[in-house]
Amino acid sequence: MPTIKEGFRHLEHRYLFQETARRAAAYRAAHPGAALIPLGIGDVTRPLAPAVIQALHEAAEDLSSPDRFVGYGPEQGHLWLREAIVRGDYEARGIRVEPDEIFVNDGAKSDLGNISDLFSGDNRVGITDPVYPVYLDTNIIDSRQVHFIPCTEGNGFTGDIPDEPLDLVYLCYPNNPTGAVITREKLAAWVRYALENDALILYDSAYEAFIRDPELPHSIYEIEGARNCALEFRSFSKTAGFTGVRCGYTVVPKELTARGQDGERINLNWMWDRRQGCKFNGASYLSQRAALALYTEEGRAQARESVQAYLDTAMLIRQGLERAGLKAFGGENAPYVWAKTPDGMDSWAFFDFLLREAEVIVTPGSGFGRNGEGWFRLTSFTDRERTAEAMDRIQHCLHGH
Ligand code: MLT
Repeated sequence: MPTIKEGFRHLEHRYLFQETARRAAAYRAAHPGAALIPLGIGDVTRPLAPAVIQALHEAAEDLSSPDRFVGYGPEQGHLWLREAIVRGDYEARGIRVEPDEIFVNDGAKSDLGNISDLFSGDNRVGITDPVYPVYLDTNIIDSRQVHFIPCTEGNGFTGDIPDEPLDLVYLCYPNNPTGAVITREKLAAWVRYALENDALILYDSAYEAFIRDPELPHSIYEIEGARNCALEFRSFSKTAGFTGVRCGYTVVPKELTARGQDGERINLNWMWDRRQGCKFNGASYLSQRAALALYTEEGRAQARESVQAYLDTAMLIRQGLERAGLKAFGGENAPYVWAKTPDGMDSWAFFDFLLREAEVIVTPGSGFGRNGEGWFRLTSFTDRERTAEAMDRIQHCLHGH
């Protein structure tokens, strides 16, 4: 008889966003006329940039032509995209990353989950709390020992550097869910910690395009020594509206190693390449051509305009919540606003309350971890009109005027 990975039995019954979607669907079914405003899952709403649309048309033409047809590409991604990524995202900031350190994927979520294939079950894993649920869930599935790093209002939601040795540490900045950012100094302290403790940082910078403060680091490789202790995960989902197109990439520097059972240091770039070769046939040609368009001057400018529109919405949300008398954070260099529920209400109760009374869908903070209890998250992936309407409704249901 097959046996299962026991870890599955320690997961919440549903993935966070499946549960919020289930409750929203149940509400819709019971109230067919409801005009719900979704500010829950971070799914983009603006159409793709014209440069991306054009690239998709051209790629579809290629696929319909016997001469230009493209089948499987390299598992790592087409070289033309990897080279464009190196030039546009790294060299342009004075960072050294090589094309064979880039692994193009079908969105950062896949690799953030799949990366745990490389590591044994006995690694001690540091996870900030609250956190994007994928990191925790994948480690629960693999039954790893998790050490939570509390991210609270008191420490600016960046977490204190642990005073014990860990093997793997997940960091995400700009942060999902709190919208907090990390300074260069704090990131350098994490890199120091990793180098001193022979730990590996799994750095999720899916939201780097939302950084407007010129002092903030966009990549962990801006920090000296990071090539020896960090992988980086990037996504086109929020940067360029690719939540439906699906494309992102992971950077695995060739310096990175981890220990085998016999103590030998094994190269992680080789391991990840081997893993992808075995389990992944590359992101689709269409999505890679779409991503390539973001490295043209017009593609970049169009995507930036979209990100700016979401940042403007984030500010409306933050101000709207503050006007409603709630304490709110984030939304300045990130698409997420993190706010305290009123009167110490628990997160799911407040989620249900807003769904029922304001017909606004948010994400309950406790779904991101224990330290998220009593908080909720809103995303700015919507337009000004719907945001204004949502803020009016929230204000109205909290104060009745
Ligand atoms: C979120 O809402 O946290 C994100 O959209 C989830 C994701 O990127 O998978």
